[in-house]
Amino acid sequence: MAEAIYPVPAAWSQDALIDGARYDAMYRRSVEEPEAFWAEEGRRLDWIRPFTKVKNTSFHEADFGIRWFEDGTLNLSANCLDRHLATRGDDVAILWEPDSPDDASRAITYRELHAQVCRLANLLKERGVKRRERVTIYLPMVPEAAVAMLACARIGAIHSIVFAGFSPDALAGRIEDCDSRVVLTADEGLRGGKRVPLKKNVDEALTHCPGVDTVVVLARTGASVPMVEGRDLAWAEAVGRQSEACEPEEMNAEDPLFILYTSGSTGKPKGVLHTTGGYAVWASMTHEYVFDYRPGQIYWCAADIGWVTGHSYIVYGPLANGATTVMFEGVPNYPDASRFWQVVDKYKVEIFYGAPTALRALMREGDEWVKKTSRASLRVLGSVGEPINPEAWEWYHKVVGEGRCPIVDTWWQTETGGAMITPLPGATALKPGSASRPMFGVAPALLDNDGQVLEGATDGCLVIADSWPGQMRTVWGDHERFFQTYFTTFKGYYFTGDGCRRDEDGYYWITGRIDDVINVSGHRMGTAEIESALVAHAKVAEAAVVGMPHPIKGQGIYAYVTCNTEVEPDEDLRRELVAWVRHEIGPIATPDVIQFTPGLPKTRSGKIMRRILRKIAENDLGSLGDTSTLADPSVVDNLIANRPAMA
Ligand code: PRX
Repeated sequence: MAEAIYPVPAAWSQDALIDGARYDAMYRRSVEEPEAFWAEEGRRLDWIRPFTKVKNTSFHEADFGIRWFEDGTLNLSANCLDRHLATRGDDVAILWEPDSPDDASRAITYRELHAQVCRLANLLKERGVKRRERVTIYLPMVPEAAVAMLACARIGAIHSIVFAGFSPDALAGRIEDCDSRVVLTADEGLRGGKRVPLKKNVDEALTHCPGVDTVVVLARTGASVPMVEGRDLAWAEAVGRQSEACEPEEMNAEDPLFILYTSGSTGKPKGVLHTTGGYAVWASMTHEYVFDYRPGQIYWCAADIGWVTGHSYIVYGPLANGATTVMFEGVPNYPDASRFWQVVDKYKVEIFYGAPTALRALMREGDEWVKKTSRASLRVLGSVGEPINPEAWEWYHKVVGEGRCPIVDTWWQTETGGAMITPLPGATALKPGSASRPMFGVAPALLDNDGQVLEGATDGCLVIADSWPGQMRTVWGDHERFFQTYFTTFKGYYFTGDGCRRDEDGYYWITGRIDDVINVSGHRMGTAEIESALVAHAKVAEAAVVGMPHPIKGQGIYAYVTCNTEVEPDEDLRRELVAWVRHEIGPIATPDVIQFTPGLPKTRSGKIMRRILRKIAENDLGSLGDTSTLADPSVVDNLIANRPAMA
């Protein structure tokens, strides 16, 4: 079948912020004259002391370093709040939609948000929080999560948000790694009608973190939770007695803004560190151009604040641009599969940004759920987190957008801070499944395994040849790991970990991770992390985890498990291990398949041959490749013969 191409609709090419010709000219300038281009874009922020230096970066070992706008000073909370007060103080900053449509929604103006942020900032100061100190945020999707982020930014503290679906162990690991003394949380979270015991999880986590001396607890459901005298404070009371005035700290452009933990191919999750100036320019610029955002429009990113998408595209990008950002506490199919589109109608959402996994799940429920809503307000649709299969893309375009809304399929990563390869609605002809063209200042390249640059239409390893302002600056506490992870596979390049194809038109098609990272429902999981959770179970001797194709999640989790010799694996143990992993990491790491096996395929030097395990998980048994280097080739026959039926 010929590849479908959707040209830019006529109305869009006339009226867009950026049309095709403008994209070409701006892109060329951004890579040929980065200093001039970024000096201009940098001025989209309010600086306290304007920068005179723009770019000072190198990916090479000898002079490795990434610095943007390095002599400028600013405060990001002031950029997201104070500077809007005179012109749009009474405009709504956050439109909050609760989990249940029967509960009251909230509309918070810029002026109100400013007051709340100042109050919480003052409470943090009262508790002794200083510049550069780490504050852990473990909150559900409520406006206070944004308040918490901005309060940290206001006083120069570094926030570390831990997704509210993570287990107490995962939370404890992250609190310890960045050495945080303060945790902001809620009594319970609410998702799809189910309660999540957040405060209980915090209490359990803190048995491992004696350094934490302050826990601020928001009453979300009003559940009664035990409070530790001297340590735990009720949010409403503690914040309520603070003043609404708090001067923003003057921060350097390169001062850290936040840490966000993400999974890699090895070891424990790493703390991705983003700094202030470059990140803010990147989040604001990409939010404006990628979504063709105009002042006054209602914009909704349906991600969670616990992931980078929520940081850049629910909070910092939209608020820096003075937008009205919708924040949704719930899930796409509760109370029913119409929920997203009902929220679109309720707020007259013009820009909707979601994940392919949600779209696939909704597509399966049938078109009626969509068609019973109007969606007349929608102008632009976005996709993020994983490759979107052309079938889901077509459904999104035809059924949700009624053929009228361009889809921006944005490829990026926690590390990149914001969208890197993406169409622009008024500039790019769309090909379903392709993230299309690079954002301004992004120089993608495809390399072969030996590091040779490949030209023209080809497949290769996706790297970025030069720095962009939103790039992460280090791994918290381990600068060497930062350099080793991203800049040594291909010397002089940032290595993304993704495979990619470029077609004859220069469009990029992300093919997925080429390292031991899997993408489950748009969430990144290190296979090593799930393996170490499994082997921590008393009955497990060894485990190997790989991805498998999954119709809704994109990738599912397939675990091969070898038990200790005296253990007879059975259904009960399978259930026990699933519950164990959910408890160790969180529900997002739930294995879809566990295959018990007496042995794993290993080379004679003892290395597990994951290539073979991947093929078996994919049920691609015809192309197992060379198995002659295996210590015991019969292991493979055994694995194939005992492949669970449900896999
Ligand atoms: O493999 C790519 C995939 O998600 C990875 C980054 O995951 P994370 O850091 O959790 O950030 C997700 C939100 C930005 C990438 O290495 N990915 C993300 N967006 C896309 C994608 N793959 C294909 N198309 C996308 N639009």
